[in-house]
Amino acid sequence: MIQKNDIIRISISDLSHDGMGMAKIDGLVFFVDSALPGEVIDMRVLKVNKRLAYGKIEELIEASPYRVKTLERVYLQSGIADLGHLSYEQQLLFKRRQVKNVLYKTAHIQDVEVLETLGMAHPFAYRNKAQVPVRRVNNQLEIGFFRKGSHDLMPLEDFLIQDKEIDRLLVFVRDILRHYAVKPYDEKAGTGLIRQLVVRRGHYTGEMMLVLVTTRPKIFQIDRIITDIVTAFPAVTSIIQNINDQQTNVIYGREFHTLYGKDTIEDEMLGNRYAISAQSFYQVNTEMAEKLYQTAIALSELTKEDVVVDAYSGIGTIGLSFARDVKAVYGVEVVAQAVKDAKENAERNGITNVYYVHGDAEDVMKRWQKSGLKPSVILVDPPRKGLTEYFIRASVAMNPEKITYISCNPATMARDVKLYEILGYTLTKVQPVDLFPQTHHVEVVALLVKTD
Ligand code: SAH
Ligand code: NI
Repeated sequence: MIQKNDIIRISISDLSHDGMGMAKIDGLVFFVDSALPGEVIDMRVLKVNKRLAYGKIEELIEASPYRVKTLERVYLQSGIADLGHLSYEQQLLFKRRQVKNVLYKTAHIQDVEVLETLGMAHPFAYRNKAQVPVRRVNNQLEIGFFRKGSHDLMPLEDFLIQDKEIDRLLVFVRDILRHYAVKPYDEKAGTGLIRQLVVRRGHYTGEMMLVLVTTRPKIFQIDRIITDIVTAFPAVTSIIQNINDQQTNVIYGREFHTLYGKDTIEDEMLGNRYAISAQSFYQVNTEMAEKLYQTAIALSELTKEDVVVDAYSGIGTIGLSFARDVKAVYGVEVVAQAVKDAKENAERNGITNVYYVHGDAEDVMKRWQKSGLKPSVILVDPPRKGLTEYFIRASVAMNPEKITYISCNPATMARDVKLYEILGYTLTKVQPVDLFPQTHHVEVVALLVKTD
C-alpha cells in the first residue's frame, strides 16, 4: 500500500493537460508538479485518493534533456509559467499532441490532420494585460502572484510573460501606493482598500490603461497619486477605478469610474483601429491573436458572397478583420459594453456591413434562425466552456456551408465537434496557435464543412 509521505523512485511517462508530470504505479495515476516525461525522480507521496494521487519531486535523479534549468522557481510555484520548465519547441509539440489526443478520445476522430502549432519567435513578455493582486507581506504593500492553489502572495517585480512596460508601471504604482500609505486589501479580515491592479497596453499604440480595484469609493489623495503616475508615464491615457466590496475571487465589481483620461485605450489589429473598455475581452497576445484570426480567415476561404455570423464577437476584432471581404457580418456578444465597443469600432474603421446584437449567443442564434437568416459561414469563439447543444442545433438549422471554430479549450471543442459530426458536418482542418507560451493553455482553430 502506497501511503502519504512514502518516497518512491518512479519514471514520468506523460504530461497532463495542465502540464503536470504523470506516472503510473500499482493502478494509481500520480500527478507530479513540474516533473517532465522521461525523468526519473524520487517522489514524495502527498495524497492518495481512489485512483488519483499526487506527489512532488523530492529529488530529481535523471533530468529530461528538454528541461529548462534557468527558469526561476517562483514562476512555476505561482503558475505564471506552468510549462516554462519545458523547452519551447517541446511546448509546441505538447500542444499539438493535446489537440490530437482529445479529438481522438472525445470525438473518436483520428483521420484529420492536426497541423504543427504556430509558435512565437520570442515567447516571453507577450501579454498586453496584467491582473495582479495587492496584499500586505512582511508589513509592506506588495504586488505579485498567489502561490498555486492558495492565496499567499509571492511578491514579484518581473512577471516574465508580461509586456516589460506593464511591469515597469506596476512597480511604479506599487511604490506610489506605499508612498501615500494606501492600505492593501486583507482578505481574511475583510479590511484595507486596494485589491488589484489591472493594466492593459496597446501592442501597437503603447497606450496604457490602469484600473485600480478598491473595496470602497474613496481613495485618499487620489489626485496626487494620479498626477505622479501620469507625469512619470505619459503613455497612461486612462485611469479607472472599479469598486468590488465582495468576498470573491472575481476581480471586478459592477461599478467603474473613470478617474483620469478616456474610458478606453486604443490598439490596432490587422490594420484596424480598436477602442477597448476595461470590461471588454481583448486577446492578451496581440501578435499571435493576429495569426489566429488570419488562420481562421484563411481556413474559411471567404468571398464577397459570404454572409458570416461572428458568435462571441467581443469588441468585434475578428469580424471587422474580414468584413470588407464579405457581404455582411452578424455579431453576437453577451457583455453590453463590448457590443457598444464593437459598434463604435465598426464606425471608427468605416465599416458599414456589420450588425451587432447584445445577448446570449444561443438565444440570438435561435432568433436569427427563426427570422430566416442564412449565413454561409458561422464562426464561433466561445469561452472555455464551449458551445451549448441548443446553440449547435440552432447553428445547424441555418444550414451554413462551413463552421469555423476558434477554441481556448480543446476538450470542450472536441465535445462540440462530435455533435456537429453527428448533425452532418465533417472536421477537415485543425490548426493550434500558441497564444500562451510558457503555459499549458492551448488555442486552436478548426474547420467543419457540410458533409455531402
Ligand atoms: N472574438 C472575440 C472574443 C472572444 S472571447 C475576440 O477574439 O476578441 C469570448 C467572448 O464571448 C467574450 O467577449 C465573452 O464576453 C463572450 N461571451 C461569453 N459567454 C457568452 C454568451 N453566452 N453569449 C454571447 N457571448 C458570450
Ligand atoms: Ni487547463
